[in-house]
Amino acid sequence: MSTKDTVLALFEKNKGFFISGEKIAEELNISRTAVWKAVKKLQSEGYNIKAVTNRGYCLDKEADVLTVRGIRSYLDENGSCLRPEVFVRVDSTNTVCIEKAAEGEKEGYVAIAGSQSAGRGRRGKAFFSPADSGIYMSILLRPVGLTEDQVLHFTTMTAAAVSEAIEAVSDKKAEIKWVNDIYVNGKKVCGILSEASYGIQDRNLECVIIGIGINAYEPSEGFPSAIADIAGRVFDEPKTGLKNRLAAEVLNRFMAYYKELPDTPYSSEYIKRSMVTGRDVTIHKGKEQIKAHVLGIDNTFGLKVVYEDGTVEVLRSGEVSIRI
Ligand code: BTN
Repeated sequence: MSTKDTVLALFEKNKGFFISGEKIAEELNISRTAVWKAVKKLQSEGYNIKAVTNRGYCLDKEADVLTVRGIRSYLDENGSCLRPEVFVRVDSTNTVCIEKAAEGEKEGYVAIAGSQSAGRGRRGKAFFSPADSGIYMSILLRPVGLTEDQVLHFTTMTAAAVSEAIEAVSDKKAEIKWVNDIYVNGKKVCGILSEASYGIQDRNLECVIIGIGINAYEPSEGFPSAIADIAGRVFDEPKTGLKNRLAAEVLNRFMAYYKELPDTPYSSEYIKRSMVTGRDVTIHKGKEQIKAHVLGIDNTFGLKVVYEDGTVEVLRSGEVSIRI
């Protein structure tokens, strides 16, 4: 164990209580400078450690910090092959993965951040990614032998994995708004952005990046007015370890489904969680908006809709909003 990890273990044992630098140094048989350096490093990684003159250091009792160690401790036989790296803040975890992929990083790298300065959403939109309240992560994959249609399944697979993980960690029911938005209590708590890169010459699939943004908690400043009506959170109260556990549960389920591709054993899970089935919706096709009624989702995740003129169509991709 590194000095930083031993100091962290001591803080975790004394969570919520002050412990002096002198006592830490004595107990771990290290210098006070080494204690100070370890504390600085932990703070820079996002740990909420207070330093008060004459009292020492104290790790916040309710701190819920994303850490590699914490995430790993919840990874099971499906997720344990992954290589998570945690950042306090990045521009976008998808961009981190794209850069890693270009440097030759192998499948299984996962970039996870506590906040993003340029989080990206679908259709060129920004994704609100404030500090302390969310989990922003991207998985780098290099699948072989999948057709372009099968690559589309990554998105639905991720939606099923995230929904199941949310239900396993919270007591909340998770629903899916086709194609891949996750809702809890009628509010969007997770968005997914999948990106694929193909070779210029041979059009071979080089890598797939699955970006997942989850609002674990309500941000301290609240959600910006533009999304305040639709955005929600998974948990009501911060509790130590919840974010690590949720991140790991998503990764475990995602990898279990990934191993099964091109089979899609999650299809019934996905279909039963659909919140648009039986609803009147607006379909956004570029700048066009078309009214329709949703008949259901087929086994290949197509959205079967009937338009006002009675025409029936199965949509393979796109964006819908529910009409109230
Ligand atoms: C959407 O709802 O439009 C999709 C949002 C996807 C956001 C995630 S957060 C992690 C990853 N990094 C990004 O920049 N975007 C995705």
